[in-house]
Amino acid sequence: MALRDRLSTDSRSVDDSDDLVTKFKARLLEEVDLEEVTDLDLPKRRARLERVLARVLSFEGPVMSSRERGRLIQRIVDDTVGLGVLEGLLADETVTEIMVNGYRDVFVERRGRIERVPTAFASEAQLYQTIDRIVSSVNRRVDESSPMVDARLATGERVNVIIPPLAMDGPTLTIRRFPQPFRMGDLVARGTIDEPLALLLAAMVRARCNVLVSGGTGSGKTTFLNALSGMIPDGERIVTIEDAAELSLQQPHVVRLESRPANVEGQGAVTIRDLVRNSLRMRPDRIVVGEVRGGETLDMLQAMNTGHEGSLTTVHANGAAEALGRLETLASMTDLALPVETLRDQINGAIDVVVQLERGADGSRRVSEVHAVTSSRREAFRTEALTELAPAPFGAPAGTPPTFRHLVLPGTLRDRLLRAGEAVPQQFADAARPSEVPR
Ligand SMILES: Nc1ncnc2c1ncn2[C@@H]1O[C@H](COP(=O)(O)OP(=O)(O)O)[C@@H](O)[C@H]1O
Ligand SMILES: [Mg+2]
Repeated sequence: MALRDRLSTDSRSVDDSDDLVTKFKARLLEEVDLEEVTDLDLPKRRARLERVLARVLSFEGPVMSSRERGRLIQRIVDDTVGLGVLEGLLADETVTEIMVNGYRDVFVERRGRIERVPTAFASEAQLYQTIDRIVSSVNRRVDESSPMVDARLATGERVNVIIPPLAMDGPTLTIRRFPQPFRMGDLVARGTIDEPLALLLAAMVRARCNVLVSGGTGSGKTTFLNALSGMIPDGERIVTIEDAAELSLQQPHVVRLESRPANVEGQGAVTIRDLVRNSLRMRPDRIVVGEVRGGETLDMLQAMNTGHEGSLTTVHANGAAEALGRLETLASMTDLALPVETLRDQINGAIDVVVQLERGADGSRRVSEVHAVTSSRREAFRTEALTELAPAPFGAPAGTPPTFRHLVLPGTLRDRLLRAGEAVPQQFADAARPSEVPR
């Protein structure tokens, strides 16, 4: 969506009809299945879209002269056919990645799964035309002398193009869309988390607890990490470290680092681990690592233990307790000689809370459990639930979402929040020991 809007304003002067273009383009896409019309040749496709749009505008459009209307139709149709097959895919919010392998093969990633799109480009020329439109919007070009382009568009998408003879099967285009930057309030509105839990986690982040977000692929870890990072107070120096910069923090003092793969000669790689180590010399207050997958895990744990409390990261695991075991495995990849007890010591010392995310069959994302780590030093991992999901009661209508059940905070965690001047939401407070800020 944003990419298409960007292209439309790039190639034409901006005027106050932009809102109309956006609105009626959306209406047009509701009326017409773009995949269906890509079978038509370009003039027929245009004619079809113009007809539908003229009808929609005559019923729903504002009063305008026929010349104005003609111009508006022109602009919208230009935009709509501009990126061919990609238009419909970019308009589809569930698509996170678009992969074009030559003009006949288009794949998309939806909810972490790759699927083939039934319609592709009409010809190689059409694909080249689309690629040109995209890369010229960021003042780049693709041709024999520069057969590879990797660019980030002004709207945030990352685009990579590589063409023959380097790509053997035709021009290859990869567009990575980044998850929407939901804020914590949006997640409450979507039922991913409830308000008391959001308040508790915000208090924990302010109180510099180290939080680990865990979940499967596409369960919303990065999105949640972004929302959680939004709770870090302004004025703290935050360093974010990612493979592909997906986080979008709003605070004024953020340094964003992105790793880099090796070049074609196999040189020049900069890993997440390199960046974590470098970040320690940058006087960060907080380090936010997009996801730990390997060697960086041990460095991240050490950072969390030594002066960078309140750091955040995510890990791929199926449960809050399992997430700690997963960290142990990942951390041992750096240094196989480290005894297990040492790793446990690091993890017990570093991680305060694990937030587990789950993707529902209906596409919703939910916090399925939140556990505090209560084991210490070299002990085997022990966690205590702060929030669990309670299934909808027996007899409730089908599709009723589960509800969040909150439990009393372990005393150490409660005391830590109180010491930091944070209040404990009443749902997590022990009625017998009312939580109040000590004087
Ligand atoms: N709470 C949520 N509600 C609805 N959709 C979400 C939510 N969190 C993430 N998504 C969507 O799910 C997809 C994957 O999210 P992402 O945060 O990248 O997951 P992960 O990092 O676990 O792979 C994105 O398209 C994102 O917009
Ligand atoms: Mg992610």
